[in-house]
Amino acid sequence: MLPSDTESVLLGSLCPLFPKRDPEGHKGTYGRLLMLCGSIGMAGACMMAARAALRSGVGLLNIAIPHALYPILAPAVPEAVFTLYDPDETLEPRLAEALEKADACLVGCGLGTAPYAERIVQTVLEKAECPVVLDADALNILAKTPEKLLTPRVPIIVTPHPGEMARLRGKLMEDIRADRIRTAKEFAAKYRVITVLKGAGTVTAAPNGEVRINTTGNPGMAKGGSGDVLAGITGALLAQGMEPFEAAYAAVCIHGAAGDRCAKRLSEHGMLPTDLIETLPEIFLEIE
Ligand code: APR
Ligand code: MG
Repeated sequence: MLPSDTESVLLGSLCPLFPKRDPEGHKGTYGRLLMLCGSIGMAGACMMAARAALRSGVGLLNIAIPHALYPILAPAVPEAVFTLYDPDETLEPRLAEALEKADACLVGCGLGTAPYAERIVQTVLEKAECPVVLDADALNILAKTPEKLLTPRVPIIVTPHPGEMARLRGKLMEDIRADRIRTAKEFAAKYRVITVLKGAGTVTAAPNGEVRINTTGNPGMAKGGSGDVLAGITGALLAQGMEPFEAAYAAVCIHGAAGDRCAKRLSEHGMLPTDLIETLPEIFLEIE
């Protein structure tokens, strides 16, 4: 956890990356984020990513989910619009239509790894014309065929934790943990994707070799759901047009800073990933 004055300097350094919101701006100005997240049993992952994206300034959020999730998610995320699909039939055309309107796309939080989820990941890789964040189950799906990531057509940010990275690389998690900076750099260079290797001191690596190590965050964030919050913030910054490497790193800093505020107020034991989301406005007050 950073001392508060160091944290203020860090957040201050992010200010130039966030253009002031235009007084004449409308919701289209602040980007449309399409989320392909959530499945039966993991609706919460989608909910947390969605709420984090909304608390990070995105103009319009479109959440594509199977019909069965709508009654759960619609009241939990009243600001969003929904694209509903039938996993067996209507998926690809609906998805292609939604992708056409998106300024950024986030795939994978709580998505599951069923065959229809594989079709979702495949469609996004084939059709997206906007920057894409691949998290969680999108990465678990790609671990079977990581070569599909090679030479991406659009900017891609991957956000694996060490277990997901181990699966993507076909290595043991201990090997990933032993040299996280090199692992992230090599992955970014090989697949030409921005690589956010998570954990204490998250490493953000660009295909050109640039690397940044995060100094915010604490073990109070080591709870299921924190990663979904990061994915939502990242998607929102991308949708608002931030340069992808800067968006990835800024999201990591903001997420960790929210975690540090939560730990001070609520304790590392007592804080929850949903508290991170509710703390985002405080962080943006310092940035905008
Ligand atoms: N210090 C700083 N940050 C931390 C720390 C720590 N000690 N521990 C965790 N974090 C941060 C990570 O950097 C990351 O941003 O919390 C977030 C955790 O993200 P994930 O590991 O992706 O966890 P999450 O997706 O929320 O939940 C667990 O991972 O293993 C899978 O399937 C499993 O769905 C489950 C999920
Ligand atoms: Mg995760």
